[in-house]
This record gives sequence, C-alpha cells and structure tokens, in this order.
Amino acid sequence: IRIFVPRDTTALSLGADAVANRLEKELAARSQSISLVRNGSRGLAWLEPLVEVETPIGRFAYGPVTVNDVSALLDSGLLEGNVSHPLALGPTEEIDYLARQQRLTFARIGITDPLSIEDYCAHSGFCGLEAALQREPQDIVEEVKASGLRGRGGAAFPTGIKWQTVLDTPADQKYIVCNADEGDSGTFADRLVMECDPYMLIEGMAIAGLAVQATQGYIYLRSEYPLAKEVLDEAIARAEQAGYLGDNLRGSGRDFHLEVRLGAGAYICGEETSLLESLEGKRGLVRFKPPLPAIEGLFGRPTVVNNVLSLAAVPFILAEGAEAYATHGMGRSRGTLALQLAGNVKHGGLVELAFGTTLRTLMETFGGGTLSGKPLRAVQVGGPLGAYLPESQWDLPLDYEAFAAESAVLGHGGVVMFDESVDMAEQARFSMEFCKVESCGKCTPCRIGSTRGVEVIDRIRANQNREANLALLHDLCETMVDGSLCAMGGMTPFPVQSALAHFPDDFQRTANGDN
Ligand code: NAI
Ligand code: SF4
Repeated sequence: IRIFVPRDTTALSLGADAVANRLEKELAARSQSISLVRNGSRGLAWLEPLVEVETPIGRFAYGPVTVNDVSALLDSGLLEGNVSHPLALGPTEEIDYLARQQRLTFARIGITDPLSIEDYCAHSGFCGLEAALQREPQDIVEEVKASGLRGRGGAAFPTGIKWQTVLDTPADQKYIVCNADEGDSGTFADRLVMECDPYMLIEGMAIAGLAVQATQGYIYLRSEYPLAKEVLDEAIARAEQAGYLGDNLRGSGRDFHLEVRLGAGAYICGEETSLLESLEGKRGLVRFKPPLPAIEGLFGRPTVVNNVLSLAAVPFILAEGAEAYATHGMGRSRGTLALQLAGNVKHGGLVELAFGTTLRTLMETFGGGTLSGKPLRAVQVGGPLGAYLPESQWDLPLDYEAFAAESAVLGHGGVVMFDESVDMAEQARFSMEFCKVESCGKCTPCRIGSTRGVEVIDRIRANQNREANLALLHDLCETMVDGSLCAMGGMTPFPVQSALAHFPDDFQRTANGDN
C-alpha cells in the first residue's frame, strides 16, 4: 500500500508537511509498513492537503486533511479505503471536478512522484522525446504545426510557425528559452507543471531544441517560486544522468543542455524581449521588434521563447501525434487550455478543458460560485491586463477568437472572480496603478499615461469635472492602446475600458459618495 501526500506550494502552505510527518509517526507506531509518496498536486486547491491511499481498486482521496485528522482517519479504516469518513471523497479519478476535465498536459499531475524518472517513464514520460530523436527537425516542426498548438503565454501565436522561423534562420548557436515568469494575477498552471511534473517541461524543451537545432536552453523562472527552482534543478541533474539532457541524448549524437535562471520580481520581465535582456544580465527593458527574437533573440541569436504550458504540451503531441491533440477544441483554438480558477471562488484550482466550454460552465460547474456565497458580479480573464466581463458575456465560449471579438483575452488562462461587493471603479484604478508600478519606463504612453490614469480616475471618483475627466480617460486609454511599445501599456486600458463600459454605475455611485 502507498499513501500520497502532495508537496507542491499550495499543499505545503496548507500544512501538507505536518500531515505527512504525522502519518509517518502514526504508521510507525502501528507497525504498518507503508510507503509514503510525496506526489504533485491534482490541482484541486480547496481540497488540499488531498491525501490519497492506493487500494486494489484504485486510489481513494481524502481532503482537506489536517494534522488533527490523521489519527482518526487511520482508526476509521483509511488504509482500507473507508468511504464513510466525512473527509472521504471516493475514488480520486471519479471526483467530478477531475472526471469532467480533458487532461492532456496535466494527465500525470498529482499521480506521480515529481522527481522519479521511473515513475515519469511508467506514465508515458519521454515517449515524445524518443519519437523526436528518430525524426528530422523539419518533421518535428511539421508535427507541431499540424497540432494547431498556439502560444499559451497569452498571445496565441502558432508555436509551429515560431519554430519554423528559428529553424530557417542560420546561426552558429540557437537557444530555447522557457518563459516561466508566471506573473498574471490568479495564475499558477506553470508553477504546477514545474513543481509537479518537471520532466514534462524538460522533455518539451529538449524536443524544441531538436526541432530548431538549438543545443542550449534556459528556464527563466520567477524568483517567487523557490520550490519550483529546487525541483527543476534536481530534475535537470537526474535527467542529465539518465541521458535525456546533455551531450549525445540517448546515444543519438544530438545535444541539449538546460539551466534555470532566476528573475528578480519584475512583471515586465514576462514580456519576451525584456526577459531576454534580463537573461543577458541587463535591466529588463523592452526591446523594439523587429527583429523578432526568433531571428535575433538571446545574445543576438535565433531564439524560441515559449511559455511553460506551450512547451509542456509538446511531449503529448510528439508521443500521440498531432491529430490526437488537434481533435480537441473549436475553430482555430485547438487542443486544451489550462484554466486557473481564483479570486472569490468556492472551488479554486486547475481545470484543463478543450477550448469551447463557456465561461459560465467553468465558473458554476467547476468553480461552484463565489466563496462568499454572494452573487457573482464580474470576472477578469487573462491576468491584470484582461477585460472585466459582466454576466452578459459569461456565455462566451473559451476560444481565442470569440474573446477577441469582445475586446477580451484568454491570456494565460487566469480566471479571477469577484462578487457583488466589488467596486469596479477601484478595480479600474488598480489597473492603472499596476501599470504605473510595473512599467519598464521605455515609452511615454505607458510610463506617463499610467500615472495620469490614476490621477484622472481619482478625480472622477471624487466627482471633480466629471464629464471632462471621463472624456480624458477615454482619450488616454486610446493613446495607450495605440502608442505603447508592448502589451503592458497597450493592454492596461482593457480592464479600465471594460469597467467603464459594463459597470458605469460604480463610477457614478462613487461620485455621489455612496461608496
Ligand atoms: P505578440 O503578438 O507580439 O507576439 C507573440 C509571439 O509570437 C512572440 O513570441 C513573437 O516574437 C512571436 N512572433 C510573431 N510573429 C512571428 C513570426 N513571424 N515568426 C516567429 N515568431 C513570431 O505578443 P507578445 O507581446 O509577445 O505577448 C502579449 C501577450 O502576452 C498578451 O496577449 C498577454 O495575454 C500575454 N501576457 C502574459 C503574461 C503571463 O504572465 N503569461 C503576462 C502579461 C501578458
Ligand atoms: Fe515599457 Fe510600458 Fe512601453 Fe512596454 S508599454 S515598453 S512596459 S513603458
């Protein structure tokens, strides 16, 4: 029998280590020889620590388990899969939240021991890399193109076309850079990949290296993820030892080296060109494009810059074939999207779904409504630069084009819910304030515009020259959208304009002093 206690940051912050320690002590006291596995999280955040027990008919889940529950759980027949205990959730795979998902990228998450290569291989790990090693670079790029995979960092640019540009650009050295600077509010999917299934990212990067003939990769990781750093460093060392990284991959004569580099906490370093500046040891200032990083990227060499989730989707595509991936989704949005439910939500967590489900289904069926129990009022999809969506837009299908048609973005899949107590004028102010703090300062519409934006919203809220200031805010938003060099200044107006368009009363109410 094996017992599983997750060891990702969410579970740890909710006391998973203490639960694991207590379990070990209690089992020793009861002379039970049971192995305790520290698995990754299944992504059901509100049930963490989610303890699982392996039984002859599958894994049974209990949660959320506290230290004080351990003894009583063991007494009540935890090891026999007692389903009558109040914390018993039944067979893990049958938990509705999991059973309703289409997990392709997150298929292994929470099931395996993140650092065990044996466990990874036993669950289809490295099959994609083994397949890629048998193929020519152009062939691999064609497979990724055929899958329809688009960049999961937010911009949704076709991954295969980006790789083609790098493959077609001759150079003495090319690079694969993984953007792991997951900075969007409410997002944690990259972290889950890195902490709970690190070999999947390593495998995806090695395949990308083979595809574009790059021999060096870097994972640019946000410093706020210390556990991911620890796990990745160890996984890279073990993958090198097993021949999946380094010189002469699996005896193929092809090389791929990988290192982790830490950022220093700037949101703008998630923008690909400032990320490259930072990787080169400079201040994270946005570069002009062109040249695209695919042509002149890290140290001036052709560079693939992909988000964690884009690279993590690649092993499945190479192992199972493009068609197996492309069969999911709708329109030009193929495959699955990792949605992250956060904010005022009852059941926050990771939900991987084929494109096409509606936002309402996501928030109600999976999210279970608000944590406060008050009516849901607004939802921000796609991070701090994403629009606020009112109820009239909740039936939008989760699809890049459907969102773009409503001036909204899916971004990196962050879904932050707000109940009726939210003040949308305050949220609009926050967007400008965020931009003011995080702007790299290179261009005027963003650097100065965000500061002026905060001031104008303050004047509107204080009811000073209301009409004139509202007109000024609209003008300012247009200038930022049209004149900013990157998405930071160019998208900050989206949440502001959507708050103004869909929740005008909040600006009015505040002006009347009701708020
Ligand atoms: P973009 O549309 O300028 O570029 C998309 C990607 O395609 C870039 O990597 C670009 O270099 C590449 N590209 C474009 N044409 C190409 C070609 N012909 N060949 C090869 N590569 C080509 O978008 P950008 O500015 O990189 O990203 C903006 C997005 O980032 C926003 O939509 C936003 O949702 C997202 N974002 C994500 C965050 C996160 O934490 N994941 C944070 C902030 C924004
Ligand atoms: Fe820098 Fe903002 Fe201009 Fe982007 S829009 S380059 S973050 S100043």
